[in-house]
Amino acid sequence: MAFQAASLLSSTLSIPKESKFCGIKETSLFGAALSITLKAEFNPCFSKGLRKTLAPIRAQTAATTPAINQGPSGEKKKTLRKGTAIITGASSGLGLATAKALSDSGKWHVIMACRNFLKAEKAAKSLGIPKENYTVMHLDLASLESVRQFVDTFRRSGRPLDVLVANAAVYFPTAKEPTFTADGFELSVGTNHLGHFLLARLLLDDLKQSDFPQKRCIIVGSITGNTNTLAGNVPPKANLGDLRGLAVGLNGVGTSPMIDGGEFDGAKAYKDSKVCNMLTMQEFHRRYHEETGITFASLYPGCIAETGLFREHIPLFRTLFPPFQKYITKGYVSEEVAGKRLAQVVSDPSLSKSGVYWSWNNNSSSFENQLSKEASDAEKARKLWEVSEKLVGLA
Ligand SMILES: NC(=O)c1ccc[n+]([C@@H]2O[C@H](COP(=O)([O-])OP(=O)(O)OC[C@H]3O[C@@H](n4cnc5c(N)ncnc54)[C@H](OP(=O)(O)O)[C@@H]3O)[C@@H](O)[C@H]2O)c1
Repeated sequence: MAFQAASLLSSTLSIPKESKFCGIKETSLFGAALSITLKAEFNPCFSKGLRKTLAPIRAQTAATTPAINQGPSGEKKKTLRKGTAIITGASSGLGLATAKALSDSGKWHVIMACRNFLKAEKAAKSLGIPKENYTVMHLDLASLESVRQFVDTFRRSGRPLDVLVANAAVYFPTAKEPTFTADGFELSVGTNHLGHFLLARLLLDDLKQSDFPQKRCIIVGSITGNTNTLAGNVPPKANLGDLRGLAVGLNGVGTSPMIDGGEFDGAKAYKDSKVCNMLTMQEFHRRYHEETGITFASLYPGCIAETGLFREHIPLFRTLFPPFQKYITKGYVSEEVAGKRLAQVVSDPSLSKSGVYWSWNNNSSSFENQLSKEASDAEKARKLWEVSEKLVGLA
């Protein structure tokens, strides 16, 4: 594996800006098919020693808003309320670490929007997130009905919505055949894109009503969908084509389960879904930022090699991938650090710019990264929006 990483070094040096690599490469090791995620840059920031000495991630600054309450004597008195952030897929990995970081700031109440209620409760408890800082609500993004029910449940809770984080995802790199959501969409795109698309569209009204100083809608992206990076060029590459497969429903019944109308490929379906996430964020920005003041943003938090995202991979991959990222490519970022990065995008006033895809550089400082040609194609984003709203029953 070292030679693979080393062979990437020269091409890496010509890759601008994007500092981490989390691409998927189908290769063979000891006769077994093994997908390896490689890092494009030998980034000294992620060497073991330096990771220990990294400056703390910029503090999540006060994200409270004054509410006017009537005091006993009738005088108006200002109190501060916590922000409310919905995080999808907060039962593990990045979502859980972000919930923890926001809770630790003392300024947020997190709605953990999860498909497995008990798992989410246990996860919150295991990290010591105080009960008063979170609520678990059921959400299965692989069912449009569940998304609608979640929105109803959330509204009935009476809480305002200040930030939505579309974080949950599934990834099936070794699947030979597609599987489908309750509504018949290929599962990766159905969950990662269409479920979140409906959720964000429905909750837009709630975000609009927020009186919080900074209201945000964050959709987690990935370097693997960006073909302007070395990672994004590792086959199979993301490519939505002309959306012909999506337009006919991705149902695999006499039609393709892939967005571009091609043969099923689980790794590509995931990368395609991430391109959809990044395009959706930008289309939201174009349509709604000016009118609503809501910040729409995406991010690549780094390669979090130990999360459940890789659970469908072969055991050998899951064993080798974290040390490979830590010691060979130095592309590893812990769940804790990644969670703090996403928490920054949720709450740091300095990251309030809309339409941005955030990444972190060698000093663990955030910067506005460039998206690939396809992931920043405004015409494709518009078309994706229109096709997606038909599929989820909004048009
Ligand atoms: N890991 C990385 O290196 C990396 C790099 C770049 C970007 N990302 C992105 O980071 C995000 C989080 O991934 P992760 O690495 O933290 O993986 P993870 O630990 O597997 O977390 C994924 C979460 O999504 C949830 N989920 C899956 N299907 C769902 C559904 N139908 N309805 C509701 N929730 C569902 C999972 O719930 P269960 O607990 O019930 O399974 C889990 O909580 C994803 O958007 C991923 O694309 C990850």
